[in-house]
Amino acid sequence: MTISRRKVLAASAAAPVLLAGGTAHAAAPASIHIHSERHRGEIDRKIFGNFIEHLGRCIDGGIFEEGSPLSDKHGFRKDVLKAVKDMNVPLLRWPGGNFSSNYNWRDGIGPRNARPKRLEMAWGTVEGNRFGTHEFMDYVEQTGSEPYICLNLGTGTWSEAQQWIEYVNGNQDTAIVAERKKNGRDKPWKVKYWGLGNEMDGYWQMGHRSAADYGAYALEAAKLAKLTDPEVKLIAAGSSNYRAGSDWIGWNRTVLEYLKDYADYISLHLYVGNTGNDYADFVASPIEMDQKIETVAGIIDAALATRTDRATGQLSKDGRKIYIAFDEWNVWYRARGDGQRGRRILEERYNLEDALVVAGFLNSLVNHADVVKIANLAQLVNVIAPIFTNDQGLFLQTIYYPLQLFANNMKGNSLRLLTQSPTYQSKRFDKVPYIDASAAMDGNRLVLNVVNRHQDQAINVVIGLEDKRFSGSVQVSEVNGPDIKAMNDFGSTLVSTKTRHIDASANTLTYSFPPHAQTMLVATLS
Ligand code: AHR
Repeated sequence: MTISRRKVLAASAAAPVLLAGGTAHAAAPASIHIHSERHRGEIDRKIFGNFIEHLGRCIDGGIFEEGSPLSDKHGFRKDVLKAVKDMNVPLLRWPGGNFSSNYNWRDGIGPRNARPKRLEMAWGTVEGNRFGTHEFMDYVEQTGSEPYICLNLGTGTWSEAQQWIEYVNGNQDTAIVAERKKNGRDKPWKVKYWGLGNEMDGYWQMGHRSAADYGAYALEAAKLAKLTDPEVKLIAAGSSNYRAGSDWIGWNRTVLEYLKDYADYISLHLYVGNTGNDYADFVASPIEMDQKIETVAGIIDAALATRTDRATGQLSKDGRKIYIAFDEWNVWYRARGDGQRGRRILEERYNLEDALVVAGFLNSLVNHADVVKIANLAQLVNVIAPIFTNDQGLFLQTIYYPLQLFANNMKGNSLRLLTQSPTYQSKRFDKVPYIDASAAMDGNRLVLNVVNRHQDQAINVVIGLEDKRFSGSVQVSEVNGPDIKAMNDFGSTLVSTKTRHIDASANTLTYSFPPHAQTMLVATLS
């Protein structure tokens, strides 16, 4: 298991160790040193992506509700669309998830009333297919997101996958392109991101295979995809199954051995939960994301280092890259388990501690901006989601706010911070820093995001600029609430973002970060 960068920094900084609920912050100084040119990598906005699946009320009854007075003429819920736009979603993955592993895209095209109803076996319902490829493409046009389509490499054939790409991106005089035109879309959509199946390492997946079988199958699908449209970027299905006895490292290694000449990304999935009601351990969960990313980044490097040129047999020097697509991540543990079949499923209700974990995951993604170039929160509406609806309206769950802050502010270059923080020991992790941070520099604009994991103590942090000065007003946005279990509901918002401004003009700023809160500072530097 790799040691996370955060743990190394925290340890090397030799900061005092506080027990949760221990001594006062005055005894435990913390600091974040920032150099505006100590870059980690450019932040790809697609790491703030999201995901919609034909599952419960995510699509049907979430973004799409035909006949509702709240919907437009296409059936899209206008209130949901506004909340999605306000969250600034750069990339939207569809149609699953587990759903995609038995989805035939042909069921979702043509006149809506003529589309077949099919048994939906991933989540135990009947799929009406009224939302298909055209509706998805219309939706991303409205939200301003880039589309990302997950192919069926479970029960689907190579031809079905190839023909879906041709239908969506083709421009030649073929029967499939003519069919798209007949269905009302003349120009190709040119969808760039295509997933080579979903969670194929999971025994629960329809069409689950061994790593070698999946690698060999996905390789042929990848060849067909790139022959159909050389511009497509392909996401191989990496690990999602971390249960005891599963060889998740071996899965990623084998898959990359097969796909290292064709995949542009390898996906990772991670869901966490507070099943033992242990706040200190739960809020440290983003360390697991750090560990997964750093382990798989090493596996990618190893795979790329052994590529050979087919013509010469020599080691390849073409500089090919493979990135990580963390295309499902979230807190998910309450609405989980065998009972999750049917219509109102996975309707997780989030509290403040969940929002802090989400903010920590976002810190992790930004802190690995050199290797993670796509990430998708699972999912957008109702199903383990930041937006929650009923037939009269919606409310924004606690986790909406960190997502919104990151997607709207964090851009430019991710900075390597030197963070010194008091630490604590949790059930799963040693030396968990109370102060968890990430930052970005875009021109002369600094964005610093801090999660203070401490449940009841503010922590003073000296923010030291090594090569710049603050130049006036600093915007401070805080996601917080009365206590870690505080939740939002219809008509009641206990957790949200509050924004104010402070002044700073020197090269240091000491800020007292409040307990159990996410705080984002946005400053202009000179
Ligand atoms: O996001 C919910 C489900 O979690 C997805 O369908 C699947 O990919 C994962 O197991």
